[in-house]
Amino acid sequence: MPSVYGVILAGGKGTRVGGDQPKQLQLLNDRPLVAWAVDAFQSANAVDRILIVSPKAYFNDIWMIANEYGYYKVLDVVEGGATRQESSYNALTSRNFNDDDILLLHDAARPFVSSEIIIRSVDAAVQYGAAGVYVPAVDTIAEIEGESVTLILNRNRLYYTQTPQAFVYTIIRHAHEKALLDGIKGATDDVSLVVSAGHTIHMVEGDYSNIKITSAHDFNLAECILNSKHLY
Ligand code: CTP
Ligand code: MG
Repeated sequence: MPSVYGVILAGGKGTRVGGDQPKQLQLLNDRPLVAWAVDAFQSANAVDRILIVSPKAYFNDIWMIANEYGYYKVLDVVEGGATRQESSYNALTSRNFNDDDILLLHDAARPFVSSEIIIRSVDAAVQYGAAGVYVPAVDTIAEIEGESVTLILNRNRLYYTQTPQAFVYTIIRHAHEKALLDGIKGATDDVSLVVSAGHTIHMVEGDYSNIKITSAHDFNLAECILNSKHLY
């Protein structure tokens, strides 16, 4: 039986949010941001174990969070890299996975991933080998060169990328190895590498509340989302 791993990418510096600590350790309501994402994977029955990628300086904080909230699925804390791509690769090479294991790579900065999205992602990875979570773009997206609009893309075909992104282990490992050989660095998600390696990605339906906390303002937005959930 393959194992299902949730990989929480919390290896960033959170420069756009700012503050004394990286955003993943800053509080959203009463919990560090990273704890919200870990909680979702801890609660999802489809997930067997959890790996958390973090800068070494915060290993202690991460283990304390795992202990305090009883996240017993957390198997290991893995050292992050200089880029998201490196952090993701470090997780892939941190232990002996089986070829058919399923890995769900998720941004620690996305606190509201639902159990439905996690289940859909696991199922899609089992069936198709590679899957990503998307929602339709609501804005018309323009390509700009200098100060001129050069292209308006057809919105009907455009989607916003969310996480998790779910893969059979061999597929994501090979895609990262190929990216290294091809000199691809600084990919902002894992699907782009798997696409470059020639694989098809299955689209999983996301949720507009599965936001990424990118700026300080997003912490306020996240609190609004939490308060609105209490209304239902
Ligand atoms: N990430 C990571 N390792 C890195 C860079 C990013 O694990 N070297 C993670 C972040 O912790 C975050 C996710 O990837 O959960 C998405 O990245 P982003 O929102 O850009 O976070 P940061 O890189 O931390 O923020 P910033 O770009 O503002 O510095
Ligand atoms: Mg970043």
